[in-house]
Amino acid sequence: MTSIPLVDLRAQRRRLGNRIDTAVLRVCDEANFIMGNEVAEFERSLAEFCGARHAISCGNGTDALILAMIAKDIGPGDAVFCPTFTFAATAEAIALRRATPVFVDIREDTFNIEPDSLLEAIETARRSALRPRGVIAVDLFGHPADYASLEEIAEQHGLWIVSDAAQSFGGRYRGRAVGQLAELTTTSFFPSKPLGCYGDGGAILTDDDELAACVDSLRVHGKGADKYDNVRIGVNSRLDAIQAAILKEKLAIFPDELTARARIARRYSDELCDTVRTPHMANNVSSAWAAYTVVLDGHDRDKVAAGLKQAGISTAIYYPVPLHRQTAYRDFPRANRNGLPRSERLANSVLSLPMHPYLDEATQDRVITKVRELAN
Ligand SMILES: Cc1ncc(COP(=O)(O)O)c(C=O)c1O
Repeated sequence: MTSIPLVDLRAQRRRLGNRIDTAVLRVCDEANFIMGNEVAEFERSLAEFCGARHAISCGNGTDALILAMIAKDIGPGDAVFCPTFTFAATAEAIALRRATPVFVDIREDTFNIEPDSLLEAIETARRSALRPRGVIAVDLFGHPADYASLEEIAEQHGLWIVSDAAQSFGGRYRGRAVGQLAELTTTSFFPSKPLGCYGDGGAILTDDDELAACVDSLRVHGKGADKYDNVRIGVNSRLDAIQAAILKEKLAIFPDELTARARIARRYSDELCDTVRTPHMANNVSSAWAAYTVVLDGHDRDKVAAGLKQAGISTAIYYPVPLHRQTAYRDFPRANRNGLPRSERLANSVLSLPMHPYLDEATQDRVITKVRELAN
């Protein structure tokens, strides 16, 4: 019995054949490893793909968030709101600036930031004498957050929105592509992400010329006219030319992969909706399906996960502990002093099943049959 990985990166490699090898060798032969044409060309293609005016690549998705927080000039006394049910990088970027992450609960259906809880968090921040500055919305598992509600609240309270689209690049929201949903969008090219490279990589997308110029400077030590002219304090966070060359090849097949992910997700949902809680698919919103995550309300999740493992099927729990319960983050404020109940409940009941564009029907059927058997 062959085992079924959560994400099968080798299957994509088989499809791409020697195109990636050729691209990598081209960079090696040109010996132009940092920035240069490969990076500039990839950035142009990335911006064009999502309709943003600027794409600025960087070292990884965490750096993209950090660069965004430096560009928004947050610091001590500032409150930035983010969901607690996310990867640590979201809050880390805020805390590293010595600003205060204020944790917000999530919606039960999309696992994304809940607007009413955001309003509570804004009150919490004000009571704590913090200055509310902005929101980092996370498009968890690839499903864009409820930007219309967030924009309304942001406008009322004078906040900016940064979209953490590490998982959702390729998704759409009411006719707009991810990359156009906030003033600044950050994404990750971690290998298992929908658009992943062969190592670390990330990018920032924006329509704002000034922010784009600022981030472009920040990623190269706050460069001015050149890197020996330093006009602001920055970092060293660039996408390698080799990764850019790989990503250019991958971007060419990305639309097709997104279609395959959507088809696979729909098939899972059709087959599993009477057994477990399947992901919500909001109208006029399309997910990039970074993960296919079910909710095992009323089931023993450990038993289901162990049964799947025994059958050679990999699963993952994103995320077992919400950030406001983590050692490093538990002292930061949260929307509700009594806890963030939906995040806590979902942390105990979510399970992500194998999901990638090359999951064939026979393999998917093995997963479906086993989940039905274990969760019934
Ligand atoms: C929601 C979210 N934000 C940020 C990141 C950070 O991206 P990276 O691993 O490229 O630094 C990730 C990636 O794991 C993520 O899932």
